[in-house]
This record gives sequence, C-alpha cells and structure tokens, in this order.
Amino acid sequence: MIDEHRWYEAIPLRRARRSFQTRQIPADVLDTLVKVAAQSRPFGDIARVVVVREAPQRLFMGVVGSYGGISGSPSALAFVGKAGAPHVQAAVGYTGEGVVLEATALGLDTCWVGGLFSSRHATMLGGVAASERVYAVSPLGFAAEHITPKERVVFRMGRSKSRRGLSEIAPGVETWPEWARAGVDAARIAPSAMNRQPWRFRFEDGAVIVSVVDGDTQRVSKRLDCGIAMLHFELGAGSAGIDGSWELLDGPEVARWLPVR
Ligand SMILES: Cc1cc2nc3c(=O)[nH]c(=O)nc-3n(C[C@H](O)[C@H](O)[C@H](O)COP(=O)(O)O)c2cc1C
Repeated sequence: MIDEHRWYEAIPLRRARRSFQTRQIPADVLDTLVKVAAQSRPFGDIARVVVVREAPQRLFMGVVGSYGGISGSPSALAFVGKAGAPHVQAAVGYTGEGVVLEATALGLDTCWVGGLFSSRHATMLGGVAASERVYAVSPLGFAAEHITPKERVVFRMGRSKSRRGLSEIAPGVETWPEWARAGVDAARIAPSAMNRQPWRFRFEDGAVIVSVVDGDTQRVSKRLDCGIAMLHFELGAGSAGIDGSWELLDGPEVARWLPVR
C-alpha cells in the first residue's frame, strides 16, 4: 500500500500551512491515512505516527498561547517515539515525513510543529504509552484557501521555500552519481524547524553520509530534521531507479545510505 513514487510526487506539493478550515476530513480519506500510518513503521517500536481524528482544541496552544497562528484544524498528527531510544529523533523525522507526504498526496495540509505545542494535551492523545514521547505534532485538514495575513508573517519568519544552495549542503554534488544528485535535490526542499536545514551530505566510498551542523541544544532536535531529509533523499534516489538502505550513526554523523547494487 505504501507507494514511494506517490510520496516523491508529493514533495513539491507540500508546504507548511497554519490556518485551517474547520471542515472535517472525509472519513474514507482519514481511514486511508490511518492505514498508511499503521503500515509505515520502518523503525518498529521506535517511531510511529498517530492520526488524531478529532484534534483537541488546545493541542496547538503553548505557554504563550496559540502558537504561530495555527488554528482551526479538525484533525492532527502526533509524531511519537520511544523516549530516549537510540536514534529516536532521526527515526521520528523519517517515519513522520512519510505520513506527511501521504497526507499531501491525499490533498490534505500539514505543518510540523515541534515548538510550543501543549505536551500535556499531546500525551493525553489516545494510545500514547508511558514509555513514549510526542516529539512533534501537526495540524491536519484543509488549509484556508488563501494564505492569511497571520500566516504570511510566519512564512517570512521561516523564509518558507527559500533553501540553502546545493553547494552549501552537498559540496561537489555535481560530480556525484545521478541517483545521489537526485537524492540531494529532494532533500534540499525538506521541511525543518525554523527552516534551518541543518543537514549536510557527502559522498564517500560509494555511499552518502548525512551529518548535522552545530550542536543540538534547541528544543527541537536537528537530528529530527535530518531524519526528514533522509526520507526525501531516499525518495529522490528512488526516482533515479536506485534503492538502498540506511545505517544510523552517532556523533555529528546521522546516517549513511548505501545503494543496493
Ligand atoms: C521538526 C519541525 C518542527 C517545526 N516546528 C514548527 C513550529 O513549532 N511552528 C511553526 O509554525 N512551524 C514549524 N515548523 C515548520 C517550518 O517552519 C517549515 O517547515 C519551514 O519554514 C519550511 O517551510 P515549508 O514547510 O513550507 O517548506 C517545523 C518544521 C519541522 C520540520
């Protein structure tokens, strides 16, 4: 049921939206997303996505009130991981972005929110176990038809869609094989908290290594952003006809992607 081509096609269609219509998502569309989320468990118990059919109103309220103007969404996604498990952040990003792209393919709008959502309301969501933590959430539904003035302010803050150049995130990429270039092209437009794009790529011994820039002291882990970029990379490489597998790493390196020959 998981269609990687469908997810790849959804990459340029996705954009973070923060103002939503209150209209409900049709039941069959939600059912499809619930099924895909249940099947998308590449890291087993370490990471998963809960589709919240009725989002509690106060989920997107942080300590300073309604965060970033997120309003109106009838449903939500919760990006859940096994608290403290090795590589959990990258696994949550990778797993979560698959469901986000499936939602996009289904015509729904989303916005990763790792900042000021209400952890209290998030942990009360159905089915989140005591051993798990909600690392991020997303509104889920149909965005307002036009970008609202409130959203415009946040778009400018996040410099939505403006991205670092390829030479910055993947120096020398022009000399890499076609699949690796296609992977980096897709990773470049991945979403990240504050649009910080903390991922860097290098090509070594026939493999691609993703590493994270600077330390990881902010509330939302940069390794989670890198996990999102890993999925985009894999979908891009897949679009060039190459499959492969990830090995998760420690320290400044996040993961290594080895193509299957
Ligand atoms: C892990 C993560 C956390 C994020 N947290 C927030 C958030 O707390 N509030 C918000 O308004 N946007 C948040 N965003 C959305 C980003 O600002 C947005 O993805 C980025 O600016 C790029 O824009 P785009 O998604 O339209 O391509 C987050 C994105 C990611 C990936």
